[in-house]
Parts: sequence; C-alpha cells; structure tokens
Amino acid sequence: MNIDINIINQLNDNYAYIVHNNNEAIIIDPADEIPILKIINKKNLKPLSILITHNHSDHTSGINGLLNHFDLDVYSSNLAIKETTKLVKDNQKIEFKFIDFNIIATPGHTLDHIVYFSDKEKILFSGDTLFYYGCGRVFEGTYKQMHNSLSKLKKLPDETKVYCGHEYTYKNLEFVLNEVIHYKEASEIKEKYKKMIREKGSSMPFFLGHQKIWNPFLNCDDIEYKKKVSNFHKNEGQIRQDANDLEFFGYIRDKRNAF
Ligand SMILES: [Fe+2]
Repeated sequence: MNIDINIINQLNDNYAYIVHNNNEAIIIDPADEIPILKIINKKNLKPLSILITHNHSDHTSGINGLLNHFDLDVYSSNLAIKETTKLVKDNQKIEFKFIDFNIIATPGHTLDHIVYFSDKEKILFSGDTLFYYGCGRVFEGTYKQMHNSLSKLKKLPDETKVYCGHEYTYKNLEFVLNEVIHYKEASEIKEKYKKMIREKGSSMPFFLGHQKIWNPFLNCDDIEYKKKVSNFHKNEGQIRQDANDLEFFGYIRDKRNAF
C-alpha cells in the first residue's frame, strides 16, 4: 500500500503533515486547519486521527477547526491539551490501518514532548525535539533531559526520514558553519541549501544518518567532533576537549540561543 506524506506550511515557519494512503489520512501537529482541509478535500481523504507532539499552540491551534469537520481521535501525552482523546506514553505502539507508530518520549523542549516513529516505513515525526542541523530550545525541561532525548533518537536507523516541526534549517546551518565547526566549503554548502529551500519550498524530510554526522546536538558523545570544535574555539577557551557530553551540549545550546 502506497503511503504519501504532504508537507503543509503553517503560520510563519511551522509544518503540519498529512500521512495518507489512497483514501485515509492522519494529521500531525495542525496549527491552521485551512490549508489542511484544502488538501483533504482535494484528495478526497478521510481523516482518521490527529497526532500531537507537544503542548505549544503552534502545533495544536488547528485541532478544533478540524474537529468541526470530522470526528477524530486526538493523540497526545498530555491531558492539558484538552482535545486529547487518546493519552499515550513512552514505548507505546499505536496502530492505524495503513501505518503504525512507536511513541518515544523526548522531554526537554517541553515535558510532554513525544515523537512518532514508524519502524516499518522508517519515518520520524520529530516535532520540536530534533531539527535539521539543530534541536529545540529547552523550555520546560532540563539540558540533561533534552540531551537524553536526542541520544534516544540517535539510536534510530540511519535511513530514517525525519519530518520536524519548523523550517529552521538555513539558520541552523549558518550557526553550525559560522559558530561550531570550521569547514572550508561553508559558503557553497549554505548556497546549496538556500537554493533547495527556495525551489522545493521546504527542506523536509532529512535523513537521520546524515545528521548523526553533521548535527552538533547529536555529536556530544563524539570525542573527535568535540576536539574539532574545541580547537575552533580555542581562543575563547570556553569549551574544553575533555568536556563531558552534557557540558558540551549545554555549551552549544547556549551558543545557539544567542545566535
Ligand atoms: Fe514548540
């Protein structure tokens, strides 16, 4: 059975997603129901459920507008998201007619954050935990929680295609190439991404295996990577080669917050 994923622009830089086969659909993180309804109607799809990654309004504010049109289950890990009908938790498996997801709890950005991973399809909806070249800001949780959450995602297969909650790719890439690691082809790489985002309208999805090499927040346990970053910043003297994984994560996260 063919599965297709529609990437839907929402608000300023958010993404919602419609996962569907020929006739049924699952909606992820709706912020604005109007562009979602347009696609549902155009493709003549029957929505089955809404999956929510976390309690921020730019991932939930389209729920009610969809419930006005369809009778849907709403999955989340937090009853404070008041439309929730299916409360889920870490390690739970949820099954639909055409796709299954494993729930992985990833606290840090928020305490209720979960991501949805399809092992069979090798697809991850990572919300605001993992971004292309970045990770979410730590709002409700601790750096330790966020670091642990990203370590869990790092264990998923390299071929996993990741669909995240925001188009932050270019800014994240600029940060990595300007502030984290020196790379002589930096301007060509940035240009390539700028063009790709302009032409495709999105940088989604991205491969997890690629990010295991390039995303600094997935490399806090890599001694060689830390050495390179430490050398790049040796004049500042802020990051030691022997910084532990969490110290390194905190250093890079703080730097990104200020970027
Ligand atoms: Fe968020």
